[in-house]
Amino acid sequence: MSTLRYGRLADVVVRELAEIKPGENVLVIADTGTPDGLAEAYLNAAIVGKAKAVLVIEAERILTDLELPASLAGAIREADVILGLCSGIFSRSEACIAARERGARILLTDPRGMEQYLIDGIVNVDTATMLHNTALLEELIHKGENARITSDNGTDLTMSLAGRPAVTSDGRVVGPGEMDYYPGTQVSFAGVEDTINGKVVIDGSVSTLGVVTQPFTIVMENGKAIGYEGDGLDLDRYKQHIAEQNDPLLAWACHWSFGLNPRAKVSGNIYEDERYFGCLDIGWGSQDPSFGGTLGLSPHHVDVVVLHPKLVIDDVVVLENNRYNTELGFINP
Ligand SMILES: [Fe+2]
Repeated sequence: MSTLRYGRLADVVVRELAEIKPGENVLVIADTGTPDGLAEAYLNAAIVGKAKAVLVIEAERILTDLELPASLAGAIREADVILGLCSGIFSRSEACIAARERGARILLTDPRGMEQYLIDGIVNVDTATMLHNTALLEELIHKGENARITSDNGTDLTMSLAGRPAVTSDGRVVGPGEMDYYPGTQVSFAGVEDTINGKVVIDGSVSTLGVVTQPFTIVMENGKAIGYEGDGLDLDRYKQHIAEQNDPLLAWACHWSFGLNPRAKVSGNIYEDERYFGCLDIGWGSQDPSFGGTLGLSPHHVDVVVLHPKLVIDDVVVLENNRYNTELGFINP
């Protein structure tokens, strides 16, 4: 029965999100924590689509465990389409980079704890309206020069985004070498690093730790975290986690992203939380070249979520209280 539950989802992922074609080598990667029936539904959908589909189930890994089993790395290197349904992040592995250079498409999610959102956020969402909002935000960011981000609980940051592209994650991979996370959508930019100043209150979640129950503040100067404010276990765990990675790049904010999926809730799973409608997701550490920033790649990356940001671009309010500005053409759920 569980495979049936995911049948429609798997069909949409295979046919619309990854546009899998007959004869393509499709690798579905699950792990021992993947919900029963989900990976099998993807395998079935790919086989029905006449792809050469293989399902690999690896041991559940933690988010910071970057080392892939050699057999899995080999399978990734040879696949045309890779559908990840697992907890371990492998997108920055050498095997993935090599596969993308060869033109492979990679579509990733971690379904644990968000099985229903995976269905709702793809099958039961108003996709046309979501893409309309996404295109509007992309245009505003693309044209924008200066941003101010505030929140009622103390966030207050300014930065330049002049010359930086808007980077959209629509949860689809249809061109050679594309990689994305899903369900979409999210629009991001990299603030010009040495112009980012102020403080940000983290009250949503942390990718590597889950839901935040005791909000804490990160103080920023010229793009870099220079201190923390607050007390409580969440801040202790966050500081400990950053220290354990021993990567200076994690002090730098590498992307500023806004969620646009009205079916996302705050579950503690970053794949859902960062798409929460009208939230801000800040990335730290490894920066994809598509952002046009100055930080570069590293093995480490952490995302943190601010639930109710106000975004002002060039003195125009774009977002407030999880509602995008309807006067600019946005359609709220
Ligand atoms: Fe991120």
